[in-house]
Parts: sequence; structure tokens; C-alpha cells
Amino acid sequence: MSRADQDKWNLRYREGAYATRSHPSALLAEWLPKLKSREDHPRAIDVACGAGRNAIYLARRGWQVDAVDVSEVALDRLSETANAENLPITCIQADLEDAAHRPADLFVADRYDLAIMIRYTNLPLIDTLKGILKAGGYLIVEEHLVTEADVVGPRSPQFRVAPDALRDAVAGLDIIAYREGTVNEPDGRSAALAQLVARYPRRPLLLAGRPMTASRKTAARAPGFTRRETPLALFRGIHTQIESATHSQIR
Ligand SMILES: C[S@@+](CC[C@H](N)C(=O)[O-])C[C@H]1O[C@@H](n2cnc3c(N)ncnc32)[C@H](O)[C@@H]1O
Repeated sequence: MSRADQDKWNLRYREGAYATRSHPSALLAEWLPKLKSREDHPRAIDVACGAGRNAIYLARRGWQVDAVDVSEVALDRLSETANAENLPITCIQADLEDAAHRPADLFVADRYDLAIMIRYTNLPLIDTLKGILKAGGYLIVEEHLVTEADVVGPRSPQFRVAPDALRDAVAGLDIIAYREGTVNEPDGRSAALAQLVARYPRRPLLLAGRPMTASRKTAARAPGFTRRETPLALFRGIHTQIESATHSQIR
């Protein structure tokens, strides 16, 4: 991310980008009530939070949120809402592609009960997010998926993920739900997305050996589900199968 990119995002937000998008990610809204934490005030990080629709959603539900974005214009918008409602959100301006200058006090082991990365394409960052989760902590990620279809989101495939790439990036975590496909946005348009809910295991995380985790085995055994059956048309069926096969693992 260059200074030019930061300026680009600032300009977008100054011109009103996402001004009317106050609803949280449907993925987050669907899964948040199912997550369990031992903490009274669990801590979350929202990376590339933008104007904070998801950080605000979390904070209104009792989460302490660190909200990180490169755009100070977006963070100003978020701060305004957080201050008006006295929400426990800390806004941090940082370039998440610049590993050398990530805020050292945030990116420490065992800090978060939940990390979310919604519609910001940076798969290498997932390894870092794994490292800052507590044992039993959750990772929720939603990325635009490479597609030929006429959908919202970036035109360039550079800012989209290939099929299976998101699932592969979380090796070592327990996958609770994974789906790829088209969804209807609240404004009636379509989005092609890869969506993931995963959990840092309570047992040691063996990244080097890339073990197949319990939930990956469960997903692979779910009736009718194989890795080859992931085209967009099968999205809803696969989601239902994985979710029902793994729901009992959420605790
Ligand atoms: C499509 S918006 C998504 C915002 C938010 N996650 C949401 O779902 O509403 C992408 C966000 O990524 C941020 N971003 C882009 N590059 C970044 C970087 N290198 N470091 C931090 N944030 C970045 C942009 O400023 C923008 O807010």
C-alpha cells in the first residue's frame, strides 16, 4: 500500500463511499450470536474496518473493538459514531500491508477473542491474525471471489480471491463454516463472496505440518460434499451441509 493508495481510499470516503452502508456484514450478523467466549467483555479486532459498520455492530453488543484502517477519513467517520454512542472502540490508523509498521501493541499473541476481515483482500495477513487470537478465539473473513458474473466489488481479480484460496489460507484453524457463491446484497445487487468462520483450536496450533483439523475432516465427510463440488451454484447446499455437520462444535 503506497501513500497513493491511502489517498485513493481517503478520497473515496470523502466522496461519500459506503455512507449509506450501515448494516453489518450478513456473515457477522449470522454468526456472532453463535460464538461463545469466556470473557465478560470479549475483545475483537476489525482489520480494514472502513467507516466501521462491523466494529459498531460488535461494540453495541458488548465487544471491545480495536478498529484498524489505512484511511483516517473513514476512521473519523467511525470515531464520530463511537463517541456519540460512547462505544468501546479504539480507532487505529495503520497500513496493514506494511508489516514493519503494524501497531505492536495490537499484534501480540493471545490478545483477541475474535478477528474479522471483511471485504479487504489480504490473505497473507491471515497468518498474522492467527497469531493474535486466543485459544478458542474466532476468525471471520469475507472476501470478494473471482467471478465472471456481473457483481459488486472490485473489477480487478487482484483484489478478489480464487476459489478455495481463503479456505487454504486458514490451515491449522478449525473451520466451522466455509462457503463460496453469490449472495444478494441489501441494495438488491449481487456479490460473489468467499465466507469463512474458523476457530483457533484449544490444542497447540501446528502450522508447519498443516494438519487436517477435526472440522476439515467433518466437512469433507458431510454427505454430498467434496472439494470438487464448490462451484457457485452449489453454494447454498454446501453451506447447509457444513453448518449442520459442524454446528455442535461451536462452544
Ligand atoms: C471495501 S472496504 C471494506 C471496509 C469494511 N471492512 C466493511 O466491510 O465495510 C476496504 C477497506 O480496506 C481499507 N484498506 C485498504 N488497504 C488497506 C491497508 N493497506 N491497510 C489498512 N486498510 C486498508 C480501505 O481504507 C477500506 O476501508
